[in-house]
Amino acid sequence: MEHLREEYDGELDPASVDSEDPLGLLTTWIHEAEQAGLSDPTAMCLATLGPDGSPRSRMVLCKGVEGTTVRFFTNLTSDKASQLQADARASLTFWWPDMDRSTRVVGHVTPLERAEVEAYFASRPRSSQIGAWVSDQSSEIEDRAALEAKHVSVHARFEGQDVPCPPHWGGFRFHAQEVEYWAGRPARLHDRIRLRFEHGAWSPSRLQP
Ligand SMILES: Cc1cc2nc3c(=O)[nH]c(=O)nc-3n(C[C@H](O)[C@H](O)[C@H](O)COP(=O)(O)O)c2cc1C
Repeated sequence: MEHLREEYDGELDPASVDSEDPLGLLTTWIHEAEQAGLSDPTAMCLATLGPDGSPRSRMVLCKGVEGTTVRFFTNLTSDKASQLQADARASLTFWWPDMDRSTRVVGHVTPLERAEVEAYFASRPRSSQIGAWVSDQSSEIEDRAALEAKHVSVHARFEGQDVPCPPHWGGFRFHAQEVEYWAGRPARLHDRIRLRFEHGAWSPSRLQP
């Protein structure tokens, strides 16, 4: 792997980072990644903390940026949900490789209201709705055949009717306290601009690459 090298050619205009709207540029970058045809432009790595302080991360999809918050959905009995219920601190990292851009957001989560979860669940494709009932996410299962058998039985259970939102399915609103925008540049002299919420206001700083 040592021979693998990428030259970056991005740029970050400090004027595009707005202290009055710290996640505004994140929204812009997601839209630009979508317009450029990148796959999964809303994918983000969510890091959480275990009870002994050990970190754990996994990919999830961003399902909305509103003000200084980001929302995502998941199974409430999953490892990530259990960790977030015990310790709300978390971090999100987006990466759009073909655009030489990344964004990291640090903060904490609160659970989404049930009505918001149910409204989003109703908008999902039926196959995803059924999948949410099939999977006890992050629990062990003996083999693939057992999972497929569960799928068949959930299909039969909801035959001819709408699939309701499972009680174990939900989501979180992530509240940002720090945001960092990164743009890869030649010679590893990347641009990094961080916004931190301190003393009631967002203050920007440029960080060394
Ligand atoms: C691109 C991508 C997007 C994903 N989006 C979600 C998501 O929005 N919600 C979710 O629960 N899992 C999502 N997953 C699966 C998670 O990465 C993970 O496997 C699962 O949530 C279990 O994580 P946990 O055991 O740490 O709770 C996604 C995986 C990938 C690769």
